[in-house]
Amino acid sequence: MNRPLGITVSRHILDSQHIHPKATGDLSSLLIELIVAAKTISAEVNKAGLSDVLGMSGKTNIQGEDVQKLDDIANNIIKRRMARCGHLCVMTSEEEADVIPVAEGHEGKYSLAFDPLDGSSNIDVNVSIGTIFSVHRRITSGGQGDENDLLIKGSEQVAAGYIIYGSSTMMVFSTGEGVHGFTLDPSVGEFYLSHPDIRMPKKSRYFSVNEGYTRYWSENVRRYLDYLKEEDKATGRPYSGRYIGSLVADFHRNLINGGIFLYPRDTKNPAKPVGKLRLLYEASPLAFLAERAGGRAITDDGLNILEIQPEGLHQRVPLIIGSSYDVGIAEEFLAGER
Ligand code: AHG
Ligand code: MN
Ligand code: MN
Repeated sequence: MNRPLGITVSRHILDSQHIHPKATGDLSSLLIELIVAAKTISAEVNKAGLSDVLGMSGKTNIQGEDVQKLDDIANNIIKRRMARCGHLCVMTSEEEADVIPVAEGHEGKYSLAFDPLDGSSNIDVNVSIGTIFSVHRRITSGGQGDENDLLIKGSEQVAAGYIIYGSSTMMVFSTGEGVHGFTLDPSVGEFYLSHPDIRMPKKSRYFSVNEGYTRYWSENVRRYLDYLKEEDKATGRPYSGRYIGSLVADFHRNLINGGIFLYPRDTKNPAKPVGKLRLLYEASPLAFLAERAGGRAITDDGLNILEIQPEGLHQRVPLIIGSSYDVGIAEEFLAGER
């Protein structure tokens, strides 16, 4: 870690703000408040086995999934802190059916979408999980915001990122210019710049997909996976498989080392026609990071994730994201051109 420089995340955010002459500091304050929430969640996650917060909460969320106690805890930490940060007009969470209002008198000019804990199935087994966030500028004016402030294309995000609770806790985010990574020093309670200006390798040797679902994929997706597993030294195949089952962790590894992640649509199940991952809480913020780091993110029918106009808070999308060369080859297979 780059400790000698000792650039804290707050310092970095404030320095970046000064590059923009028109910046008011609102986005900086919003992010700094979110970082406090992230540190609080990190502390809860780190002691999870000791504090009776493992296991199910007994609730089911809007996605029809069982809510774990830590999902609930993380959701409340972000909701309570950010409702009073003074820079948001409305929020939405993967765990809640409706928009989340901010505290009266604390309305501001941004909206926030978040996945409080991504990778829930890994909570109880000490595998990396994360928090994902996406910030847009509001489009309504004055007072509380509404759904319209959240149903905005990913290309319009003013900031997006994640916090990964792994072997160390890291925060990775972008406010549009570059993707930067910060590592939490738990002894100090500060995130320090450890990965400045991350660039995703253009070509990789890794694929991340849940191959248990092969039978549900389209013929084109299956042919692409077969291609990756063929032997061809010139193109570095076969690729190796790496699948954690926490999107944040799979994405983080691919961001640093290169790789392609796929969660294609289920072609056999009419109830799951568009895959599993959610546009606002997962696909769009990670697509923003991927593009800013030189990677790409598309659907399995070739749409740019960042250009999709969201129609619902909990809309799902097929997601293919990662190194630009690899997404390009996948795109050709998906279009039936190979
Ligand atoms: P969440 O825990 O926020 O509901 O998200 C879980 C997601 C994502 O993190 C992961 O990539 C995917 O679910 C794994 O799904 P499968 O178990 O179907 O592979
Ligand atoms: Mn998730
Ligand atoms: Mn989640």
